[in-house]
Amino acid sequence: MLKALAQFQLTLVSANSIYDKVKSGTENFTEKEQKGYELFKRNCNSCHQEPLFSSYKFANNGLPKDSYLKDIGRMGVTQRKEDNLMFKIPSLRNLSYSYPYMHDGRFTRLSQVIDHYTKGIQSNSKVSKELAKKIVLSDNDKVDLIAFLLTLNDREFVKNSDFQFPKEILQQPEGK
Ligand code: HEC
Repeated sequence: MLKALAQFQLTLVSANSIYDKVKSGTENFTEKEQKGYELFKRNCNSCHQEPLFSSYKFANNGLPKDSYLKDIGRMGVTQRKEDNLMFKIPSLRNLSYSYPYMHDGRFTRLSQVIDHYTKGIQSNSKVSKELAKKIVLSDNDKVDLIAFLLTLNDREFVKNSDFQFPKEILQQPEGK
């Protein structure tokens, strides 16, 4: 069973986004997307590294502590103090299908995420050094950055019926 699961996971490769097509030379970014890509490389790529858009490390991106869940991040697993409030850097592929965002789903829109990075970061000793310098983006920059992030969607992957819950199971009449 576990082996079958691992084999299935290996088939889950999302590589048909506009970003991938630009990288393979079959499509071009629009001007907005290209500008957004430059902004991304300058401000975000240190943690959300291409081409998977994650370094799969743990970091603190300055979210104000959530007083309800009180999630302590990786420390909950390792019990090590240095892992307090460290969260896994998630991939940014298929963001249109993976909201709400952050470990506690506090943001429903990408514009809220961008606003967090420009004016919501709470400086404390845990915030990762990549975010020590304030990120400044104009309104146009924000639109461009989101336009770029949307090029990481892979609709063909998300809609692939091989990866969906088989609906027939639900449609079978009682007792069959
Ligand atoms: C210090 C490393 C770091 C940098 C730099 C960084 N992020 Fe993040 N990002 C994180 C971490 C860690 C999380 C997960 C936090 C959590 O789960 O609460 C995250 C989460 C996100 C999410 C939510 C993804 C999801 O599925 O929930 C988005 C979107 C995002 N970042 C976009 C960006 C953008 C855009 C930039 C640049 C403006 C950026 N990040 C810069 C570390 C970073």
